[in-house]
Amino acid sequence: MMNNCKAIEIGEKIFWTGAVDWSMRNFHGYETSRGSTYNAYLILDEKIALIDTAKIDFKDELLARISSVVDPAQIDVIVSSHVEPDHSGSLKEVAALAPNAEIITTNPNGLKGLTNRYGKLNYHAVKAGDEISIGKRTLKFVPTPMLHWPDSMVTYCPEEKILFSNDAFGEHLATSLRFDDENDLETILREAKKYYANILMPFGKQAQIALKALGDLEIKMIATGHGVIWRTHIDKIFDCYKKWSAGEVEERAVVVFDSMWHSTEILARTITEAFAKRGIPAAYYDIKKNALADIVTDIFTSKYLAVGSPTINNQMMPTIAAFLCYLKGLRPVNHKAFAFGSYGWGGQSIGLVEDELKAAGFEIILEKIRVQNLPTVQQLDDITEKISALDL
Ligand code: FEO
Repeated sequence: MMNNCKAIEIGEKIFWTGAVDWSMRNFHGYETSRGSTYNAYLILDEKIALIDTAKIDFKDELLARISSVVDPAQIDVIVSSHVEPDHSGSLKEVAALAPNAEIITTNPNGLKGLTNRYGKLNYHAVKAGDEISIGKRTLKFVPTPMLHWPDSMVTYCPEEKILFSNDAFGEHLATSLRFDDENDLETILREAKKYYANILMPFGKQAQIALKALGDLEIKMIATGHGVIWRTHIDKIFDCYKKWSAGEVEERAVVVFDSMWHSTEILARTITEAFAKRGIPAAYYDIKKNALADIVTDIFTSKYLAVGSPTINNQMMPTIAAFLCYLKGLRPVNHKAFAFGSYGWGGQSIGLVEDELKAAGFEIILEKIRVQNLPTVQQLDDITEKISALDL
């Protein structure tokens, strides 16, 4: 696509040359209500280094930004931090314009993944602790497997104290302002939490290993692969990652349900109010009206979860089945849950929901709540009482 995009200097002779995806609303199932960016960085030294590329749809934007500073043919080194095509998608195109460039990737997973996707290119595989000099500056490579694929790595430049962190510490947020302190902090942290919950939640242990490996580095800037560059609130995002990777949860509840004729909805409202009555703030999500990614973000740090579904054709509602499938894949830890729902005759859905919660690793803290047809006031009072009496 024709454009006149320019590079943005973020340090002396260090440029952001990425792309802004204002319109992206779904990242393989994760609803990205604020779009995203695919961040790439160009370092001009005795050698010219490019850290990452961009999704193929944005190759023209990437190349325009690079070309505003330097002829792409002069690039000597391309660091491919991660094989996923939101970062490596334009690698072959950039490599074709920079035939002498060496492509740095991890050994063996980056090498295998890039070769599989892009064929034989001028790869140079690195391992933990390897580094290269590009002149006045050094690039040190730190593998961060499973943040977010087995091949992932970050790059540290000690002379600049910049960590090029790829997926880690990022967020799906399209913005025209490159730095954390130029954007609304609450929004960035919310999006960073959403990103962690929906992409990195299964990899808490690996995140802790990575944090340990990065812990001794002096960092004045985290140049992420998505969203803003951290320079002012580095401690805040590090603290968040420490808490998130440790699976810390708060005394909060999330109630998620679908309903056909309002009966399960009435139960959901009662359960929400019952939690609040005993001093536990509760979020209420009608699954038809909320994005899975937002629901999961709340569940991630809330200790309690109640999931409700009426019964349809002896099954739970497909919306709830999809939600539980998504949740199970994210392998949440340290959560307690129970199932509820109304039914007309069979009522199998509630047991099926409970089974899925158990399979997802939730501790069941309350006998499943089953109500035939419309709940009575007495039944609602009983539910309130049971939640009040829970030994949490
Ligand atoms: Fe942003 Fe795992 O790619």
